[in-house]
Amino acid sequence: MTIHLGSDHAGFALRRILANYLIDQGHAVAESGPTDESAFDYPLAAAEVAKRVVKGEADMGVLICGTGIGMAIAANRFAGVRAANCWNEESAKLAREHNHANVLCLGARMIAPDQALSILKVFLAEAPSQEARHLRRVQKLDEIGECAGAPPAYCK
Ligand code: RB5
Repeated sequence: MTIHLGSDHAGFALRRILANYLIDQGHAVAESGPTDESAFDYPLAAAEVAKRVVKGEADMGVLICGTGIGMAIAANRFAGVRAANCWNEESAKLAREHNHANVLCLGARMIAPDQALSILKVFLAEAPSQEARHLRRVQKLDEIGECAGAPPAYCK
């Protein structure tokens, strides 16, 4: 799997830990963001990762900042991105199954590195549910993402 990780300064150390884990597991890994803990604006890393996921150049994205919140806000501005800020294994499982999340957001100042790794493992292992209700709802997410063009009635 090709996985693109991005972080700001707050997420730098955790990004490197997770990148090394993924490389050890045989994944193709790309990284965006700072090369040390110097200040780095999170929207820049989020945009790089989001664009690669939307283009199909990465199978999944992982975005890490202090809280995971800024990364999720930024990445979800890109139509086709479903970025989920996950805080435990259950939220990661449901983000994949129910929301078909394709970008995992993590808060490096909110959770310990071993918890983040455990969340990542679940996120990678779970598949999107093909139950009709979930497919229908994810389809609506895509429609909302296109509201700027020809919005469906429920967007107005
Ligand atoms: C950086 O100090 C912090 O604001 C950032 O990492 C993130 O938490 C934003 O959402």
